[in-house]
Amino acid sequence: MRITDIRPTTTERTAAGIGELDGDAFAVPVFPGDDSPVLGPGSPDLPESVDLFTALDVGKAKGKAGEAVVVPGPEGRVLLVGVGDGSPRDYRRAGAALARKARGLERVVSTVTATAGDPGLRAFIEGATLASYAWWISKPAKAPLGTLVLALTGDDRDDAVAAGIAVARAGWLGRDLVHTPSNIKSPQWLADRAAEVAADAGLSVRIWDEKALADDGFGGILGVGMGSDRPPRLIQLGYTPDGSDAVPARHIVLVGKGITFDTGGLSLKPRTAMTPMKTDMSGGAVVIAVLSALRAMKCPVRVTGLIPAAENMPGASAQRPSDVIRQYDGTTVEVRNTDAEGRLVLADAMAYAVAKLEPSALIDIATLTGAATVGLGRWHAPMYATSDDLAAQLAEAGEAAGERLWRMPLVDDYRFALESDIADVSHVETSKVGGGSITAALFLERFTGGLPWVHLDIAGTGRADAAKDEIVKGGTAFGVRTLLYWLTSECTGRR
Ligand code: BES
Ligand code: MN
Ligand code: ZN
Repeated sequence: MRITDIRPTTTERTAAGIGELDGDAFAVPVFPGDDSPVLGPGSPDLPESVDLFTALDVGKAKGKAGEAVVVPGPEGRVLLVGVGDGSPRDYRRAGAALARKARGLERVVSTVTATAGDPGLRAFIEGATLASYAWWISKPAKAPLGTLVLALTGDDRDDAVAAGIAVARAGWLGRDLVHTPSNIKSPQWLADRAAEVAADAGLSVRIWDEKALADDGFGGILGVGMGSDRPPRLIQLGYTPDGSDAVPARHIVLVGKGITFDTGGLSLKPRTAMTPMKTDMSGGAVVIAVLSALRAMKCPVRVTGLIPAAENMPGASAQRPSDVIRQYDGTTVEVRNTDAEGRLVLADAMAYAVAKLEPSALIDIATLTGAATVGLGRWHAPMYATSDDLAAQLAEAGEAAGERLWRMPLVDDYRFALESDIADVSHVETSKVGGGSITAALFLERFTGGLPWVHLDIAGTGRADAAKDEIVKGGTAFGVRTLLYWLTSECTGRR
């Protein structure tokens, strides 16, 4: 079931001059200039009745990124969009500012990116499309901008436009999955959405139901899922590049935490901590969304997505704090806190990837720990890595994509804290060392089989309490952009 029928903003490009085009509004760039702001391309073609210079004079438009000044006119309004220093980051903010002012409009013609390079153009489209994101069930809201028409002359820009659209669409899909309430969003619901995506995007799909999970020994996913009467699933999506695009011998496995609701289980969360927990499948949503865009973006490497999906509920058959479970690879785990469920489902999926999928690199993404937010706040995501090269590549991709990652240490001295008296390992600390995001990563590291591995903890960045630039309130699908930038860039071809 799809609840909303909100159409994402579409983007078209044209080589015509702005004066020859029809629109509800015209958007032109404003550069900060040395002494005073400077109007960019497109402005000379606008109807004379529009008094842009007055708007600049009264000092409203300064050319800062994030600024969009509306100038009314008889032939349609004009948006003066600040582009700041012209970096991709500022173009992304400019696109977002435009989209907010353009809510409810059908068609906006823009010359804002006429002089931008390809990264700026891409970022502008992402900013505009993502900031126009809307999701609701019955509350009427102002519809997103219908169509953004980009007036672009010169060399062919189609690839940059297509990349911007693909990334932004993936962001919409990821956010739709996160925003869906958990009375609708069961593990099976998530599997159904993944299967739909697979059919649309030319992906293979495999779903394990609870019986198949038991047969194959996925003790972590089952342990977490058995307190709910909506049984767990493991979802596998596979992308193989078309022959001509392929970089052979590279196979990236992405694992996304798919807890469709996290009550904490018998280690029940307090009331206010539980409310946002429909977003606890954000990592899984990111993985589904990333896979959905790979074919359109001609990704050169093979990618498999794994989403262990379960509802963490305190039902009559729920696992108990003190239970011992057996993960997919045979590791026995003393479960001391049923609210540390994410690492248990991830460990199964990662161990499965190591045993069966021959990955060249393993990346997991998860709303894993409240400690991630304590450490880095809501705008930076902790990253852990066993490969310096991979960590550097992802940090760079995140920077380009407008999602900040900060590398954290896998502190050797803290490993002893996961020791258990009765099982191979405990999943939470048994001796006080603190650093909850670090100890969670140390637990996961056991299941990486020595592969180059990156873990992204998006507990802080996965949700926003307020709109800011391309982010809207609610699920952010943080990670979609970073992973798509990385997977489709050259660097994935490196060893
Ligand atoms: N899903 C939560 C982490 C989380 C917290 C995500 C806040 C988003 C916002 C995770 O399953 C959890 O409960 N982690 C515990 C781990 C602890 C019990 C070791 C936490 O962080 O408190
Ligand atoms: Mn939890
Ligand atoms: Zn959780």
